Amino acid sequence: MTLHEKFRFSNIDELREKIASLGVELDLCEDIAPLFKRVKIGSFQAPNALAALPMEGCDSFADGSPSELVKRRYNRLSSGGAGLIWWEACAVVPEGRANPNQMMLTPENSKQFSETLEASMKLSSEALGAGNRCANILQLTHSGRYSRPNSHKPEPIMPQHDPILDPRVGASAEQELASDEYLDSLIGRYAASAKLAKEVGFDGIDIKACHRYLISELLASRERPGKYGGSFENRTRLLREAVLAVRREVGSDFIIACRFNVFDAHPYPYGFGQDASDMWTFNPEEPLALAKMLRGAGVKLLSNSAGNPYYIYPQVTRPFDLSSEGIPVPNEHPLESVSRLFSFTKKIQEAVLDVPMAGNGYTWLRQFFPYAGAANLKSGGCRFVGLGRLSFAYPEAPRDLMQTGRLNPLRCCIACSKCTQLMRDHERTGCVARDSKIYAPIYFAARKEAAERAGTCK
Ligand SMILES: Cc1cc2nc3c(=O)[nH]c(=O)nc-3n(C[C@H](O)[C@H](O)[C@H](O)COP(=O)(O)O)c2cc1C
Repeated sequence: MTLHEKFRFSNIDELREKIASLGVELDLCEDIAPLFKRVKIGSFQAPNALAALPMEGCDSFADGSPSELVKRRYNRLSSGGAGLIWWEACAVVPEGRANPNQMMLTPENSKQFSETLEASMKLSSEALGAGNRCANILQLTHSGRYSRPNSHKPEPIMPQHDPILDPRVGASAEQELASDEYLDSLIGRYAASAKLAKEVGFDGIDIKACHRYLISELLASRERPGKYGGSFENRTRLLREAVLAVRREVGSDFIIACRFNVFDAHPYPYGFGQDASDMWTFNPEEPLALAKMLRGAGVKLLSNSAGNPYYIYPQVTRPFDLSSEGIPVPNEHPLESVSRLFSFTKKIQEAVLDVPMAGNGYTWLRQFFPYAGAANLKSGGCRFVGLGRLSFAYPEAPRDLMQTGRLNPLRCCIACSKCTQLMRDHERTGCVARDSKIYAPIYFAARKEAAERAGTCK
């Protein structure tokens, strides 16, 4: 373990020196041509290997349909030239929304979705030219323990009790768990949402299984009784059944993707992907088995994530310079956190060679991310270079890279965690530093309101 530090590199040699002094595995390749090669996802050819990862804005209308801010976000991403746009978390049932403004596709609002998608596809075609456009994948979710569908009050729907996490969502040891019957009922909801997504014009859907939302936590529900808990087969049942049900509903050509947590960084028996005796030691056995199972069930695109963004080690999910409120300074260098995410992607990609993996963890590297991305693509460590916070800050990054071979450092994400803070303060989110005209006023108002709610306003 090494001291946490902020990003302070003005050239690639300084970054190389730090990587060497830390002894972390992280390669850089100055030939960035691999970023611009086509990538096959099922029968779709993505025009390049740059992916905008799902980043929710918590800013849809109350009925789940796209607001002006949502449209603006996807228009900017599409104009920005990414080869794959992985649309944000979209709830399959109202009670599973993470906030009252989480995206939700329904028969009643599907027209607004198709118009939004059509407009952004047009911009993508214009940006990419020559008959190209990006792949659009919609992430389907149920927020489980982190459901907060109505107000500022959590309304957790939990697959298991967890002595560390229960108090954090106001759940008592007596709170009833999500029943097997309830979980059974969700399978059809994933299938119905996927069918709608196909009708609306998406190229595929993702069944979200990361960040300790419902399906992610189920993967670790070793102590849950019944058919969704205990054995690996039971813990993966909802995900597997949902994939199969979606496939039956949408036919063979529609892409089914899965973004799953490879490593929860949460103590055994409540966490997935780690050693029983040490929560910081990765145990690849079950994550690899899961990836192979998903491939066998017809999943055509994967992305790894890790950690629980709601707990005290968010650097496992997204390496940062500054944390959001209440998060301790990590006990590791951000380059170690970045390298950990890269190593997970590589491990899974090597196990499922014909299914492309979208990697993550690139944003902290700022203007140097293309060199890490190119190195990972070249070595077979991933097929897509996935960009989360950087896509909020600098949606035109792929286009700038294509046109000039470099990025503007002044547009890159500064890993300040203000986008996360906005979510934690229950507000619409975006990049406070680089999109400040819109998000700085929202940020300051949200901080004030959160302080008032907590009764700490002086
Ligand atoms: C504000 C915010 C919203 C996010 N929304 C989603 C989401 O809807 N679905 C998802 O799978 N991950 C989500 N993430 C995680 C990112 O996709 C990504 O995994 C993470 O930020 C690490 O990548 P980065 O270092 O490129 O930012 C979100 C992260 C942030 C900070």
